[in-house]
Amino acid sequence: GVALGKFLADTGMTTFDPGFVNTSSTKSAITYIDGDAGILRYRGYPIEQLARSSTFIEVSYLLIYGELPTPAQLEDFTDKIRRHTLLHEDLKRFFDGFPRNAHPMPVVSSAVNALSAYYQDSLDPKDPEQVELSTIRLLAKLPTIAAYAYKKSVGQPFLYPDNSLNLVENFLRMTFGLPAEPYEIDPAVVDALDMLFILHADHEQNCSTSTVRLVGSSQANLFTSISGGINALWGPLHGGANQAVLEMLEDIRAGGGDTTDFMNRVKNKEPGVKLMGFGHRVYKNYDPRAKLVKAAADKVLESLGVSDELLDIAKGLEEVALNDDYFISRRLYPNVDFYTGLIYRAMGFPTRMFTVLFALGRLPGWIAHWREMNADPSTKIGRPRQVYTGYTERDYVDLSGR
Ligand code: ACO
Repeated sequence: GVALGKFLADTGMTTFDPGFVNTSSTKSAITYIDGDAGILRYRGYPIEQLARSSTFIEVSYLLIYGELPTPAQLEDFTDKIRRHTLLHEDLKRFFDGFPRNAHPMPVVSSAVNALSAYYQDSLDPKDPEQVELSTIRLLAKLPTIAAYAYKKSVGQPFLYPDNSLNLVENFLRMTFGLPAEPYEIDPAVVDALDMLFILHADHEQNCSTSTVRLVGSSQANLFTSISGGINALWGPLHGGANQAVLEMLEDIRAGGGDTTDFMNRVKNKEPGVKLMGFGHRVYKNYDPRAKLVKAAADKVLESLGVSDELLDIAKGLEEVALNDDYFISRRLYPNVDFYTGLIYRAMGFPTRMFTVLFALGRLPGWIAHWREMNADPSTKIGRPRQVYTGYTERDYVDLSGR
């Protein structure tokens, strides 16, 4: 591949592959996907086993360092993250500058980018200790940043992290807790959120991860590269789909719950009407994450005592799709986002926080990819070519002559 690329460049030819449908941008040893078989493995471990038996913090370690941690390594890693959960007091004031009704995604990505301004002793990509420090800082501070973006939107005071709690518990308390009241942690919610974070933790060269790598390929620091990834994630064709799915289900319910009518509009390709949460660039079979999320949705809603007619509408849509030639012939199945929003909603998260939750889960994957790229001496700056379609050459016309 590399030799072919060089040969084409030397002879003045380029490959043209819009959307990089068939172009590998890198070699990577982090995540394996077989889209036809519906297989996903992190560092060789099947996603089903990790979802069932591991924890998000352990999976973060696995993705970033390549191996499951020993008990001592896990304790050390957890401890280090605990010590960095606080945000600089000046950075806390940063949130005041945003309007109350802002979407939390730009607030979060701005705050993550601002880490480069507040933590200048961990910006050098060529210093392994600084890379390590920025890794820990990001893992520790993103939950605090995400919770503060939520608190800002509801006008409640920020809570300091409580480091007797684990990462997910701490995030839930900072999000839903109030200073004067003790916050009751529901283990069922903690377990479900931890599992959802595991399922989102990496997915090889998706749009946001490729963005992180591309930004980082210029040797930009880790914070700033991850901020770029958060922005890429926000789009409705990527991480923003979990919010879009819920809005679609709400629209269908508001219109009387007629799934057939909606599906006909999808199949007729009415502008802007898609079955959100369906389809995937790589999976041409049931997304293995969606299987796990669907099972979790039933369990979590039941254990929280929530009955949600949107879940029935979602299942109805899936039922129609799995038996309809439009979806069968295009091999469109539910992706990870189809059922996640229903769980987040049952936990009490507003729709606008859904993509922020995706970012929390995806963070270790972004970090792992940035580090893999950064540690590889053969990494070149990402710089695609183009097929130029503009004017060849024309003479400048003076303002008075136009
Ligand atoms: N609803 C209806 N039709 C669809 C859908 C859908 N969700 N997804 C794809 N199609 C159709 C396309 O219209 C196209 O039809 P055609 O061959 O008649 O033109 C065909 O299926 C192929 O789809 P493409 O858009 O070419 O596939 P691509 O790989 O470029 O896009 C994507 C993948 C962006 C995920 C797409 O399926 C989509 O928009 N899905 C809805 C948004 C979504 O759920 N995104 C989340 C992705 S997963 C993630 O980020 C976690």
